[in-house]
Amino acid sequence: MQIPSIKEARVRTKKETKMDVYKIHDNFKNIGIGKTYFIKTYGCQMNEHDSENIKAMLEEMSFKENMVMEKADLVILNTCAIRENAHNKAFGMLGRLKHLKEENPKLIVGLCGCMAQEESVIKEIQDKYKWVDIVFGTHNLDRLPEILVNSFHNPKTEIEVYSIEGNIVENIPVKRENPYKAWVNIMYGCDKFCTYCIVPFTRGKQRSRKPEFIINEVKKLIKDGFKEVTLLGQNVNAYGKDLDINYDMANLLKDTAETGIERIRFVTSHPWDFNDNMIDVISKYPNIMPYIHLPLQSGSNRVLKLMGRRYTKEQYLELYQKIKAKIPNCSITTDIIVGFPGEAEEDFEETIDVVNKCQFDSAFTFIFSKREGTPAALMKDDVPLRDKEKRLYRLNELINKYSKEKNDTYLHKIVPVLIEGKSEKDEQYLMGYTDTMKLVNVKAPHEYIGKIVNVKITDVKTWSMDGEIVK
Ligand code: SAH
Ligand code: SF4
Ligand code: F3S
Repeated sequence: MQIPSIKEARVRTKKETKMDVYKIHDNFKNIGIGKTYFIKTYGCQMNEHDSENIKAMLEEMSFKENMVMEKADLVILNTCAIRENAHNKAFGMLGRLKHLKEENPKLIVGLCGCMAQEESVIKEIQDKYKWVDIVFGTHNLDRLPEILVNSFHNPKTEIEVYSIEGNIVENIPVKRENPYKAWVNIMYGCDKFCTYCIVPFTRGKQRSRKPEFIINEVKKLIKDGFKEVTLLGQNVNAYGKDLDINYDMANLLKDTAETGIERIRFVTSHPWDFNDNMIDVISKYPNIMPYIHLPLQSGSNRVLKLMGRRYTKEQYLELYQKIKAKIPNCSITTDIIVGFPGEAEEDFEETIDVVNKCQFDSAFTFIFSKREGTPAALMKDDVPLRDKEKRLYRLNELINKYSKEKNDTYLHKIVPVLIEGKSEKDEQYLMGYTDTMKLVNVKAPHEYIGKIVNVKITDVKTWSMDGEIVK
């Protein structure tokens, strides 16, 4: 048993990140014969991508995917710790699984992801969810086969979570969910320590993958027919800073663009490390999409300081203008937190002011959620819930107004769309995204799936558009 410690997780060592190569032991390859698995994923793209790795590892062990949780022999919850409600959802699901396990004692239940990295969650599982079979963390995903096998001989919960990150493990197999768009990890962890955020504790020190591994992965994806890659990291602009070569995100974007892959996206950008070279590269290469997710968090300099974001409202606006000037059709989206400890009405007005100035294409908005172990958890959370809710409501109204206005500018225009599959709204429609990341429903036959086509926008809503293919 190995249990995480939040105190240790805070530590940043100078230890050099080495590389391991994943290989499954032959003895494990038949373990899942005749059995099925179901994975429920919470949280960000990184977790989605980790689940793609978990699925492939399980399939190497001969398990098959089951889309119905109630019928699976192994259920894994890949959890997120970013806000309280993410926690509640996972614990709620564990409650449901308890009933399933009562009906089928052979069911194996696993929990992994960011919540597994939290000391308090592990305690709760040991106290109240003793029937959970395996728990593993974000740093030892690759150990899943061993951990699963070990649990067969352990009547108690098999827990193996490391507090401190290990080496980067290359060659973990992956079962990609989408045949046209692929996620590619470029770095792990985060060293920014924004005061509200749990991620530096759950994902560890920033570790960049070596450029050649990333580029080779992209080249292989092209061969396999993929049209789009999204380079993933918690703050991708800091890519390379931990490598001992002179190579940064601008270099990586350029080299990725030169592989010839049709579309490149990247998330998430921290405004702090966004340099001019990056803007130049994005504007120069047509296969780097004109879409940037640039989290603001707050428009108030006082709150930004308390959040440890290390930029001011003015610096954010300057960066925003620079991006818009060099990449004129660029769509920019953001994340905003309301009700941070000490956020006064005037601070919130500053946020509104930035939203009015930037008129974002869209935004994810959140009420501050206290995360144990983070510096902000010790700050006095003095904004009444009613005020937080009012601010969120007002902010969302404004965000939606600008989203609709931005979408309106697309009406009757012809835009490139990567058609991904059937639309949820209507059998006769397909769906896809523009280069600027707008969701478009297109009335077209199925043979267009997997192609990038020109679409004329015929109708516009707040969160999507309709269009028809231009031949
Ligand atoms: N690495 C990304 C953010 C990942 S978390 C970045 O720095 O931009 C995604 C979003 O969740 C954050 O941008 C923030 O807006 C929100 N978030 C993070 N911690 C939060 C908390 N404790 N309460 C509310 N929202 C939070
Ligand atoms: Fe969290 Fe800040 Fe790191 Fe983003 S940059 S993951 S908000 S600590
Ligand atoms: Fe959640 Fe972990 Fe991602 S906390 S947002 S799943 S990095």
